[in-house]
Amino acid sequence: MTYITQPAKPIRKAVFPVAGMGSRFLPATKAIAKEMLPIVDKPLIQYAVEEAIAAGITDIIFVTGRTKRSIEDHFDKAYELETELEARGKHELLAIARATSPKGVSFSYTRQSEPLGLGHAVLMAKALVGDEPFAVILPDDFIDPKQGGEGALSEMVRAYQTHAGASVLAVQNVERSQTASYGIVSTTALDDLNETVTGIVEKPKPEVAPSTLAVVGRYILAPEIFGYIEKIKPGAGGELQLTDAIAAMLKDQAVIANRFSGTRYDCGSKLGYLQATVACGLKHPETKEIFQNYLKNVSNN
Ligand code: UTP
Repeated sequence: MTYITQPAKPIRKAVFPVAGMGSRFLPATKAIAKEMLPIVDKPLIQYAVEEAIAAGITDIIFVTGRTKRSIEDHFDKAYELETELEARGKHELLAIARATSPKGVSFSYTRQSEPLGLGHAVLMAKALVGDEPFAVILPDDFIDPKQGGEGALSEMVRAYQTHAGASVLAVQNVERSQTASYGIVSTTALDDLNETVTGIVEKPKPEVAPSTLAVVGRYILAPEIFGYIEKIKPGAGGELQLTDAIAAMLKDQAVIANRFSGTRYDCGSKLGYLQATVACGLKHPETKEIFQNYLKNVSNN
């Protein structure tokens, strides 16, 4: 008998849950979205959208909240600004302003009225995603690709294709003292870059964490995840946890953990945000040399 292996369905859609409160960045996030905070000159959300587009995503779905209107404006045409820049002949700046919404990419928005957890936020995108595998990106986890390397989501899409359309979680090792800030997986060996997930638990204390392999803000999920989210009860912090839905799903279908290359910065925290700013400031063509000299002087003082 000949078996015909179906190629894994392409990943076309990415969900960006951006309805959280961003309370660790108050007062900056009282009236504006945390995801609009810039790393040098580009908002966090734009880095994440560019990473998605580089991975082949054509449908961007934002799950937003009341204070997030600036995200919609950012990915829309800015008529007054563009007309003014054109009239003044500032073509380079015009190209930068226009590049936020490239041709062939669609942007949709749905709302999460109350921040009831990441699982709940993802569930809000169910109708827009439909019955196909999709990516989830948390823009406050900023992943700076290795020099010359591709983005983390592109690496995960490759893992998804190689492993017959399994769901994929981005993971990295963290200090044991940090496990209570993450979803932590237990795994068995699969290949050089990937492991098979056998269990996942949200925010375990260091003494009970099954490993130090932590899930960071990138997922490729089978559409069945929505059914599991609908069945789970509020978990850690009283929120509907995506982790709990993944824990239920992995009993029925394959979930793998992908060790992405590149450096991840937790830009939901002040320290991670500052570290990302320094890393990008040292690479940006307009600032790299002068900023490097500045940092040398600062550290000498
Ligand atoms: P976080 O807990 O890191 O973000 O959620 P937060 O709630 O915005 O920030 P703090 O903790 O109050 O400072 C991770 C991601 O999940 C989204 C957030 O927007 C963030 O991108 N999220 C979280 C939602 O969209 N809805 C939720 O109910 C919870």
